[in-house]
Amino acid sequence: MNEPVLEAVDVYRLYEQGKEAVAALKDVTFRVEAGTFVAITGPSGSGKSTLLNLLAGLDVPSSGAVRIAGRDLAALDERGRTLIRRERIGFVFQFFNLVPTLTVAENIGLPLRLAGVKRPEDDPRFTRIVEFFGLSKLVGRRPHMLSGGEMQRTSIARAVVHEPPIVLADEPTGNLSTSAGRDVLELLRRSVDELGRTVLLVTHNPRDAAFADQVRFLKDGTLLPEVVEGGDKDESRIADRMAVLGL
Ligand SMILES: Nc1ncnc2c1ncn2[C@@H]1O[C@H](COP(=O)(O)OP(=O)(O)OP(=O)(O)O)[C@@H](O)[C@H]1O
Ligand SMILES: [Mg+2]
Repeated sequence: MNEPVLEAVDVYRLYEQGKEAVAALKDVTFRVEAGTFVAITGPSGSGKSTLLNLLAGLDVPSSGAVRIAGRDLAALDERGRTLIRRERIGFVFQFFNLVPTLTVAENIGLPLRLAGVKRPEDDPRFTRIVEFFGLSKLVGRRPHMLSGGEMQRTSIARAVVHEPPIVLADEPTGNLSTSAGRDVLELLRRSVDELGRTVLLVTHNPRDAAFADQVRFLKDGTLLPEVVEGGDKDESRIADRMAVLGL
């Protein structure tokens, strides 16, 4: 068994709202091994984004431990968490989060800039990723001149350009057409198979989840023990499991 690159152990996340507390995650224990593509699926409000944000170090659990590459996030301060996140994690958002005033090239170059690279566009990692994602012709454009699919490809290129070992994607196809969504999933799949990355995808869509090596299910903040993997991971199997699990 490979080392887990991401780990949540007995994680609870309570959101306090006045006198009321919502338990968004309850006792979640979950590991992602290096070099795998894992999908977490579940209905709206089941805690998917909460879990992804915790695993990215964007949020801290109410109790329990989160480890990125073996480092316990509770042992780090905000700055330490930021540094490990920058180095280890690429994050893909549903709404792309591109900087509208910057070109495609400048958006993609941002993580390299944060890592101290003065001219990101001259960096071999930049050239490689632009080619890999088929963005060579678009590098001079600003985001408003791109289709949704092109925006998401740009946003994934930005998430992986500094070669973080882990890519977290929260509903990356939520705002895309079926075919643009398939392109994005194929790129995430190739990032695992050809670039050796680890991908954790959050989706409510069994068609997207079918791209993963392993599918897990969240329901009302609880990670269900069921795992769909290997040859069983076709879309209809996943949809059937979701129906059986009441998702
Ligand atoms: N900042 C917050 N404050 C209070 N409650 C929150 C907060 N963020 C999320 N919640 C609640 O926690 C629960 C889980 O939310 P979460 O966003 O993780 O769900 P999700 O599975 O990602 O849903 P979706 O598919 O709609 O994105 C929900 O009940 C939600 O209302
Ligand atoms: Mg969500």
